[in-house]
Amino acid sequence: MPTDPALGPAAVPSLARFGLGTAAVGRPGYITLGRDLDLPAERTVEALRRRTHALLDAAYAAGVRYFDTARSYGRAEEFVGEWLAARPQAASEVLVGSKWGYTYTADWQASGVPVHEVKEHSTAVFDRQITETRAALGARLGIYLVHSVTPDSPALTDPALHARLAELAAGGVRVGLSTSGPAQAETIRAALEVTAGGQPLFAAVQATWNVLEPSAGPALARAHEAGWLVVVKEGMANGRLADRNATGPDTAALRALAAGTGTSCDALALAAAAAQPWADVVLSGAATPEQLASNLTAAGVGLGPADLAALDALAEPAEAYWRTRAALPWA
Ligand SMILES: NC(=O)c1ccc[n+]([C@@H]2O[C@H](COP(=O)([O-])OP(=O)(O)OC[C@H]3O[C@@H](n4cnc5c(N)ncnc54)[C@H](OP(=O)(O)O)[C@@H]3O)[C@@H](O)[C@H]2O)c1
Repeated sequence: MPTDPALGPAAVPSLARFGLGTAAVGRPGYITLGRDLDLPAERTVEALRRRTHALLDAAYAAGVRYFDTARSYGRAEEFVGEWLAARPQAASEVLVGSKWGYTYTADWQASGVPVHEVKEHSTAVFDRQITETRAALGARLGIYLVHSVTPDSPALTDPALHARLAELAAGGVRVGLSTSGPAQAETIRAALEVTAGGQPLFAAVQATWNVLEPSAGPALARAHEAGWLVVVKEGMANGRLADRNATGPDTAALRALAAGTGTSCDALALAAAAAQPWADVVLSGAATPEQLASNLTAAGVGLGPADLAALDALAEPAEAYWRTRAALPWA
């Protein structure tokens, strides 16, 4: 529903444009903002396994067909793998992406550990983690991303690693990268130039894009034009754009548009990502089925150019956005 009829009907995204990420539910600790409110009081392995399976069931029933996980999300790959194994029909219809390059080190603690995950983009870590990922997901692995690439990562320059990734791609897995930090655009442009055996190596990217941090947009448009699968993560800025958190002057334009369109702030934030012509899939990072249901109402929200222009006012300098994100506590 466009708010400016003069601009004609806005495209309404279909549910197939949305995916479900498992970062919030595969382990007890993460950086989203309301974990004490939204997770079971006892964050046991069994409780989070049940929560992950309930979210996957609800997402699949709603029409979501893209699921995202990673080696470093605690036991998320295992939970997703079990869910797929028990539902062959669903498994045949969905696309599953995972990531390697971070090792989970929190030993099922939510907080109080010095380091929750350790990043290393080496061939040794790839060799270990692809074996672990295969054990959890088997042939269901459709996409494998180098996790959180920044411009200094060997993933952009190491020929031995590129040969490993090319071998995986030759076996039918789409190989790509996720990006983080204020230099996402530079990272994506560098990755577009990487070749192995004379062919472009990467064919997928998962990047942060939200109305507070849209700086990767032009580089993601180039990736989309190059035929890459472009997946948006952190579309709600780790929960900062949910109604209960989007209360300050920095998010006034989001609240105003949500009120004007009868939409929740979380759905509007995800709809803004889905309105980007280069965005193939937009992830919900929901921690509860209720959040998921609210997030997925984004599929009914078509935003026109005037709506998107109003949201431009929310953009922060990228450096400031990533400083705020880096300060979010693990809980
Ligand atoms: N480097 C990478 O590759 C990378 C990094 C980050 C994420 N990801 C992927 O992207 C996915 C999404 O990212 P994300 O979870 O970090 O960020 P997000 O989508 O920006 O935020 C999700 C969080 O927002 C809160 N939320 C969502 N809907 C809500 C609602 N209706 N009301 C109140 N709160 C709501 C929940 O947190 P609370 O319940 O805690 O409030 C939820 O966990 C992840 O699951 C993961 O798969 C990848």
